[in-house]
Amino acid sequence: MEDYGRFLALLVSALHVGFVAVILSLVWVFHYREGLSWDGGAGEFNWHPVLIITGFVFIQGIAIIVYRLPWTWKCSKLLMKFIHAGLNTIAMILAIVSLVAVFEYHNASSIPNMYSLHSWIGLIAVIFYSLQLFLGFAVFLLPFAPVPLRRAVMPIHVYSGLTIFATVIATALMGITEKLIFALQNPAYSSSPPEAIFVNCLGLLLVIFGALILWMASRPHWKRPPEENAKALLPVGGTPEGTEAESTMTDGSQADKADLRINSDIARKQNLKLDEAAQRSTM
Ligand code: HEM
Ligand code: HEM
Repeated sequence: MEDYGRFLALLVSALHVGFVAVILSLVWVFHYREGLSWDGGAGEFNWHPVLIITGFVFIQGIAIIVYRLPWTWKCSKLLMKFIHAGLNTIAMILAIVSLVAVFEYHNASSIPNMYSLHSWIGLIAVIFYSLQLFLGFAVFLLPFAPVPLRRAVMPIHVYSGLTIFATVIATALMGITEKLIFALQNPAYSSSPPEAIFVNCLGLLLVIFGALILWMASRPHWKRPPEENAKALLPVGGTPEGTEAESTMTDGSQADKADLRINSDIARKQNLKLDEAAQRSTM
């Protein structure tokens, strides 16, 4: 891999920054706020930032760069797809639980739903994320989509994945700012109490984490190399063109020749199918 040292440095930094952000979100809710509970009160609301930062930011970030880890390039693409899809599914579940927490809290306290820009963009991000997850499964994991469709969808998948991730970071920053403005009354946010400084730093870490992930995921030379796929999966002695059988036939009857041609046609079709299946498993 080109620039292996730099990749490793960025990866270690991203993991540290993301992990510290998760810890800071816990310190925020336990030290400065009401902790965590599931009773319709403020403790239930607090699941919202904690689960979003853990799942929707940190785990989603790792899911995005998992194909780029060079030591996984010897693992099968199918295994990596399961890991990528699995991490994204965990992120989705945590995001949904975090939304249930905030809606329940709002309803229990008679606070209106879906009035803020934060909630609009946040809900749109979750809806697009679930679409991305569904289409990812349908097109890249299940064995039905043909190779040309996979090839056409891939750039859209990568673009929309990165856009959703960036939007999630922006939404988290809006949410943090809103919460600080609502919660800090005496002393107010504008007088920079320790909680404000602490949570502003958490927001900075989220931006740094997002920037690191987006950088790593957008370097073409750190992309997982394409598989030596089709040939490797052809059966031993398989001859895609079917020429070998014909060229070794020197003195057979016309009927034998025709027979062999039919057999080699069947073999060619089988090989094309295998070839297509092999390519599908790698795209
Ligand atoms: C409310 C989504 C991150 C703070 C909401 C609501 C949604 C949402 C849909 C509306 C709930 C309702 O109307 O009952 C998201 C998404 C996030 C995210 C998708 C991830 C990017 C955060 C973070 C915080 C936060 C990190 C930090 C504390 C709030 C607050 C509300 C809220 C204070 C209530 C006020 C409002 O409705 O805007 N969020 N949120 N959010 N969220 Fe988030
Ligand atoms: C690649 C996002 C779900 C299959 C990518 C990339 C992103 C991304 C940003 C580019 C990674 C890179 O260039 O290294 C997402 C998001 C998902 C999701 C946000 C969920 C909401 C899925 C699912 C599958 C899938 C369910 C099914 C297996 C793939 C494949 C690649 C990919 C095959 C290409 C990897 C390569 O370049 O070698 N995804 N994805 N994705 N994703 Fe997803």
